[in-house]
Amino acid sequence: IKKIGVLTSGGDAPGMNAAVRGVVRMALSEGLEVYGIYDGYQGLHQNRIEKLDRKSVSDVINKGGTFLGSARFPEFKEEHVREQAIENLKLHGIDALVVIGGDGSYMGAKKLTEMGYPCIGLPGTIDNDVAGTDYTIGYLTAMNTVIDAIDRLRDTSSSHQRISIVEVMGRHCGDLTLMSAIAGGCEYIITPETGLNKENLLEKIKEGIDKGKKHAIIAITELMTDVNELAKYIEDQTGRETRATVLGHIQRGGQPTAFDRILASRMGAYAVELLMEGHGGRCVGIQNEQMVHHDIIDAIENMRRPVRTELYTLAEKLF
Ligand code: F6P
Repeated sequence: IKKIGVLTSGGDAPGMNAAVRGVVRMALSEGLEVYGIYDGYQGLHQNRIEKLDRKSVSDVINKGGTFLGSARFPEFKEEHVREQAIENLKLHGIDALVVIGGDGSYMGAKKLTEMGYPCIGLPGTIDNDVAGTDYTIGYLTAMNTVIDAIDRLRDTSSSHQRISIVEVMGRHCGDLTLMSAIAGGCEYIITPETGLNKENLLEKIKEGIDKGKKHAIIAITELMTDVNELAKYIEDQTGRETRATVLGHIQRGGQPTAFDRILASRMGAYAVELLMEGHGGRCVGIQNEQMVHHDIIDAIENMRRPVRTELYTLAEKLF
């Protein structure tokens, strides 16, 4: 292997830059050439590919977002689009590709692998919804952002004796909501894993009020319900003023924390090591503090992420 490509795809995540830097610096130190592909699979399809050097990744380790750019590109599901992408890679003599992104991006990498083109996937998403890894790049940084927001909501919600609902990203995964809620001391946690049972929630809120709670924070994962309607419902049923806050894309930005920078650097370098050992079609993870790799097809099709039942139980107990 002599030349590798790297791209970031899907929703950006803090630490993606550090991961690209890890790939580039490791590859250069091993005598390989590295090519950056702009705006994910879209740029790959449009042949927007440039050679990177040491300086291309100077001063990016501490920056949020991704300097390579990212895009959602559903067209990559079509075989002729992927064929064009492979042709572009071959045009530059690129032997293998490192894809940094979430589950959608892994799907593209899986398809390229199935077409005979070696790819390595690195988990870059704030959602922590990728199989085969305990942590995704960006997840812990986003968690700190959410906790900061919850702390601020606590100030105002306690001053006004209100109930606050905070909507957290995560798509179909409740990890970011659950962990942020535990760290932020939220009273109620609603995630895709728990489901939303309005009557049950109301019962618990009333129980809290009976116990003397003057205010409360409800953390809920996005896409489950309209949080403004839920706030109105709670207010109508309890007589307590209730406000909803949607944190939105603020959760995706900001400087990566130390953990994410280190994780991303390790994963980026590890991807290059795997390619040099002749591996392709793998995805990288961290499990029990060790770098691991799994078959990317197996990870998408068969591996499931564990539901943290014990942490939901803990959160209930601390309520
Ligand atoms: O996958 C990361 C994520 O931020 C999800 O939490 C969210 O559902 C989605 O991306 C939002 O996507 P977009 O930025 O394309 O609206």
